Amino acid sequence: MNHPHEKVETNVGLMAVLIAVAVSFGGLAEIVPLMFQAETVKPLPGVKPYPALQLAGRDVYVREGCHTCHSQMVRTLRFETERYGHYSLAGESVYDRPFLWGSKRTGPDLARVGGRYSDDWHRVHLINPRDVVPESNMPGFPWLAQNRVDGGEVEHKMRTLQRIGDPYTEADIAGAREAVNGKTELDAVVAYLQGLGKHAPRGG
Ligand code: HEC
Repeated sequence: MNHPHEKVETNVGLMAVLIAVAVSFGGLAEIVPLMFQAETVKPLPGVKPYPALQLAGRDVYVREGCHTCHSQMVRTLRFETERYGHYSLAGESVYDRPFLWGSKRTGPDLARVGGRYSDDWHRVHLINPRDVVPESNMPGFPWLAQNRVDGGEVEHKMRTLQRIGDPYTEADIAGAREAVNGKTELDAVVAYLQGLGKHAPRGG
């Protein structure tokens, strides 16, 4: 008598369908629980929506393509945690829309860069990286020091984020213009960088 497997192994169409079923079952078993796990969408203690100036800085960061050279995700590998600090957790980036984890690292990962350098160091570095890191091949962004942050735009962004669920208070939004008044895009990017990784667990 023929083994029942023979039917599958000699019929390429049937085999393809059964493979698809087996693979999608594996995929579903991995993906569906993530959608229901609170820890993937729950902010870590202290993680709040970005304050006005940092929010503006984050958008400049995206506009200037900083994320094309810098990732913001420390992997769970010893040599990464030794270099950067605690590996990244989902609860750190619940208010990152879109997230900037990335995988391209022409420059170092920036997920833990907050507090590593002074504000002045960042200013000099962003205007002309070679002034502080002679061998750097990062481009300079001198125009950030000239451009002013548009308070009305920041206010609108916060309102939009509130609509899609970020817990901004009315006071946060009302204070946005004042918070960025007179600030340059350079101030905003530096504020954003100094906030990165602030609420990460300590240690490797
Ligand atoms: C073409 C690739 C490239 C782009 C684009 C780029 N960087 Fe860099 N960045 C680098 C490289 C390479 C280094 C390492 C050398 C140095 O410190 O300048 C670096 C270093 C840094 C550091 C120091 C990190 C550390 O831990 O020492 C910061 C902060 C930084 N970049 C921020 C930015 C920001 C903000 C932007 C966008 C405005 C940006 N970078 C755009 C390549 C890039």
